[in-house]
Amino acid sequence: QKKTAGYRIGFSQCSMAGPWRKEMLAGMERELSFHPEVQLQVLDAHDDSQKQQEQIREFVQQGVDLLIVSPYESEPVTPAVEEAYRRGIPVILLDRRTASQQYTAYVGGNNVEVGQTAARYISRLLKQRGNILEILGTPGSSATSERHLGFAQGLALHPGLHVVAQVTGDWTVRTLKPELTKALQAHPEVTMIFSHNDGMGHGAYEVCQELGLTKRVRIIGVDAQAGPGEGLDLVQRGVLDASILYSPGGEEAIRTALKILRKAPFNKENILGTIVVDSTNVLTLLQQNEKMRTQQQDIERQQSLLHRLQQTYASQQVVLNWLLVT
Ligand code: FRU
Repeated sequence: QKKTAGYRIGFSQCSMAGPWRKEMLAGMERELSFHPEVQLQVLDAHDDSQKQQEQIREFVQQGVDLLIVSPYESEPVTPAVEEAYRRGIPVILLDRRTASQQYTAYVGGNNVEVGQTAARYISRLLKQRGNILEILGTPGSSATSERHLGFAQGLALHPGLHVVAQVTGDWTVRTLKPELTKALQAHPEVTMIFSHNDGMGHGAYEVCQELGLTKRVRIIGVDAQAGPGEGLDLVQRGVLDASILYSPGGEEAIRTALKILRKAPFNKENILGTIVVDSTNVLTLLQQNEKMRTQQQDIERQQSLLHRLQQTYASQQVVLNWLLVT
């Protein structure tokens, strides 16, 4: 017997800060608007693995039907995810992974490929020779280790390319600037920065401006999100030379969740595609995004019209019933 209504999904989000994670949630809500029978509850761990473990256990205690987890750091969040999984609660890992194979499905980009793509692009841009500074995301996030691994693998194919400095960020510009300033001053041979996301890449550009380096140093980021001050905008303005597209995957996570809940066939690995966005294709992508935005507005207008019609119909039914009984 398939259960058709009343699903409860718990979403343990490592952080709600920043437009990329807001877009992840917006994507989930867009998809959920077609499934009013599904309830989504979100808990924000504020980039704190301890808190995230507690929140996952809270969801398990509440008896949610399915968990979606975007882990802050892989290792510390693993035990709580494994516990949930072993109790029979399906778990979807979204964007970042735990350190275990005990999960039901993964939805997100291939971060090793993201790093490899960045290396390939840089080798072309630098004509196979040059010195690079790498800005890493939070240590312990799977996206950091996988992007780093893919980048190192990609560069290993080009002996003329060297990472001469690394700076560790926290996916934001909060702590980045002082350390980056020192590293760039100590390494005047750097002509390229690979930043694990566009936000830190934007911060790197500001540091380069302060040091008068914007002509010499080029910056590649990751995410290529739409919106003012985001990756697509930064590429269009020439702040970033390129950005590797990395989708937040909210819609796909909900679609996968519904397949699992309805006992339909699903894939364990749901890898979202990536492309390089640079000056050659950024306008096309911006136009596509604009089109999608207006189409989404149309869908929302249609949904509210439908809702109004349903209400009118429901009140006419009441009148009709009343007329029939009197
Ligand atoms: C947002 C973010 C993105 C990045 C992803 C990696 O929190 O830092 O910028 O691509 O997480 O997990």
